[in-house]
Amino acid sequence: MPSPLGSPAVVLEALLEVRDLHVTFRTRNGLVTAVDGLSFSVLPGEVLGIVGESGSGKSVSMLSLLRLIRDRNMQITGEVIFNGADLLTMPEQQLRALRGREIAVIFQDALTALTPVYTIGWHIVEQIRAHEPISKREARARAVRLLEEVGIPNAERRMDNYPHEFSGGMRQRVLIAMALSCNPRLLVADEPTTALDVTTQAQILDLMLELRKAHGSAIIIITHDMGVVYEIADRLLVMYSGRAVEQGPTRSVFRDPRHPYTWGLLGSIPQFTATGAKRLQAIPGSPPSPLRVPEGCVFAPRCRFRHEACSERPRLRGGDDHLDACWLPDEAKEKLRGETLAYAGGGREGDHAGSGAR
Ligand SMILES: Nc1ncnc2c1ncn2[C@@H]1O[C@H](COP(=O)(O)OP(=O)(O)O)[C@@H](O)[C@H]1O
Ligand code: SF4
Ligand SMILES: [Mg+2]
Repeated sequence: MPSPLGSPAVVLEALLEVRDLHVTFRTRNGLVTAVDGLSFSVLPGEVLGIVGESGSGKSVSMLSLLRLIRDRNMQITGEVIFNGADLLTMPEQQLRALRGREIAVIFQDALTALTPVYTIGWHIVEQIRAHEPISKREARARAVRLLEEVGIPNAERRMDNYPHEFSGGMRQRVLIAMALSCNPRLLVADEPTTALDVTTQAQILDLMLELRKAHGSAIIIITHDMGVVYEIADRLLVMYSGRAVEQGPTRSVFRDPRHPYTWGLLGSIPQFTATGAKRLQAIPGSPPSPLRVPEGCVFAPRCRFRHEACSERPRLRGGDDHLDACWLPDEAKEKLRGETLAYAGGGREGDHAGSGAR
């Protein structure tokens, strides 16, 4: 596969390199293909955004490569090289030591991620002490500092609150504090802002960026919201039906989106107009069942531009670090994209973001 990072020298420096990841589940109805040959890498300190509609395999790919899915019917193949070692083959104990210390994960649902019968302080202290041999008193002092750092007022007092006494945004801040308690080199955040209102969402994104700056952590942020990745990600990976259909620098993907599916995602971003935000049309049709993934291009059943070549599977390709998996010739892409985004009301060539300046 061509390198998403452009040159072999850069690939060597990647903090995380995922190669040809496949994840399937045996179910009563047949074999579910959740991830189908995914390859990407993340540099130290880089923010990678993974976008795609619900069911496109974003969560399964991340959770399975960290071996966080316990399902005997799951089969995973490929390589997941983190800092030189393969997470898929390393002993469980070694991996457990990495998770929480070098790799932290924030799950989508902040309420279920916290145990209701324990205090906020207990959660953070336990997290710290699971990875560092320090006293409870020291861990508690560190926990208070972390809560302050993520913007919880009266942190000392609020340590003794229970999760239900915190709002959704505050609980999400607690999860970020826990994730950052050991200065991870990689933070994986699965839809960290989905359940939050727009103001809190913006604060959480700012917080993640600030903490990246302070700790130098790389971040993988999973979302179905193109506006979120526009704000925060250095690079984008667009997933559809378990595959990467486009990946590249965020600016490049927004300015010059090359895959018809990405055009659809961009066409469905709310655009801000003088009269307020308006949501544009969604992509017609729905993703294929993972039990029956189409031959050839997986997007073909929903693609207005499918043609003969599309019966063969397109691989990610591109001349630079911006890659896409679509058979259309480059000139055709440019022309059809313009028509598609104009048709969606998406507006100006050269700025498909619509949600403000980057
Ligand atoms: N344990 C499981 N057994 C069978 N299918 C699963 C399981 N977990 C996830 N899937 C399927 O894998 C696909 C990808 O799911 P997911 O990664 O959760 O999507 P996303 O996070 O992009 O919304 C979905 O079709 C989902 O139904
Ligand atoms: S390969 Fe064909 S079907 Fe797939 S996105 Fe491109 S034009 Fe559409
Ligand atoms: Mg998900």
